[in-house]
Amino acid sequence: CSIGTILGIETSCDDTGVAMVTTDGRILAETVYGQTTTHLATGGIVPATAAQLHAANINPAISQVLHETGVAMETVDAVAVTNCPGMAPCLKVGLVHAKRLARRFNKPLIPVHHMRAHALTACLTDGVQLPFLALLLSGGHSLLAVAREVDDFYLVGRGLDQSPGDTLDKCARYLRLSELPGLGDLPGGRAVEIVASQGGDSRAWPLSGSSTRFNKSDCNFSFSGLQSAFRQLANRVLLGDPMQLSEPLQHNHLVRQHYPHLCASLQYALCRMVATRTARAVKFARRTELLPESFPIVVSGGVAANSAVRSSLQSLAKFYDLPSAVFPPARLCTDNGVMIAWAGAQLWRRRLHCVMPRDFASVDLE
Ligand code: KG4
Ligand code: ZN
Repeated sequence: CSIGTILGIETSCDDTGVAMVTTDGRILAETVYGQTTTHLATGGIVPATAAQLHAANINPAISQVLHETGVAMETVDAVAVTNCPGMAPCLKVGLVHAKRLARRFNKPLIPVHHMRAHALTACLTDGVQLPFLALLLSGGHSLLAVAREVDDFYLVGRGLDQSPGDTLDKCARYLRLSELPGLGDLPGGRAVEIVASQGGDSRAWPLSGSSTRFNKSDCNFSFSGLQSAFRQLANRVLLGDPMQLSEPLQHNHLVRQHYPHLCASLQYALCRMVATRTARAVKFARRTELLPESFPIVVSGGVAANSAVRSSLQSLAKFYDLPSAVFPPARLCTDNGVMIAWAGAQLWRRRLHCVMPRDFASVDLE
């Protein structure tokens, strides 16, 4: 089977990612144009703004990757692009550019599912073989799925309300962590992680009763209870009144001394939600023989970059006698073009879902 070269384009959320990857797993070039600074200023992602930034960045990103690889579009084998899930105006920017390129150079176009691409990254970075249990924790989603084939994922659990990344971002915003020295440009979850590591003890101010889902007999996630419990805890600790509604909190050194403990508690409660759901999924997959007795757990998405999340899932894998959990390197856990190019390469190799130029009209938003 000949080696192919795939150009991947990702614009589903707030990162413009472009990469060139070969079917035998070589990353020839990659680039990500982020938007965190802009979105921190507006207090969250405004889809129209994000789409405008994608539109401004996508051509420079594509040119950069082509230039770095020295590979001409004529010799690329296919163009892969995220077509779902994501914010429609953002997805559209990537789709329009990918279609245009593919049509101009008469290449197949490969629509890629963003969440599957996150999971399949582990096959590239860690040589993980299918089937495996995929746990995705991002700014948009949380889900557990059995990855049976590149195009066959069995959904076991999903988020019922807001995503874990969004929860961390909102809690970080509530504490106004981005105003602290050195944290200005970081995503909320990373800021929480850094502050928690500054001597934070999750037992100092436990986030008790933050969810009733811990004992539910399914594998679904819920994080919104965690967010409101966190606010109440922060208000109780910092203002002496859990129901105080004034926001945002005012910074001063007396208040800031509690931040590490608060962030550690938040991380701990989030890890607990993730671990209880994942443990159920492991038992379910074994009982139903969706997976064999031993299988890898692959964890990806922006929140998988978190060290507390990583260590709690390693303990879980050990407890269930599984090989150690696999986390792609942090830069490939967050949104990027490599994962799209790589997922596209797997599909292209099997000639799955490739859309030939004459059928381009059928590739659209789902
Ligand atoms: O997967 P991702 O890059 O984008 C989406 O597809 O949503 O995930 C972004 C999320 C953000 O909410 C961000 O706060 C979170 O991932 N994140 C982290 C860390 N780095 C990024 N959360 C916890 N710990 C981190 N180190
Ligand atoms: Zn993502």
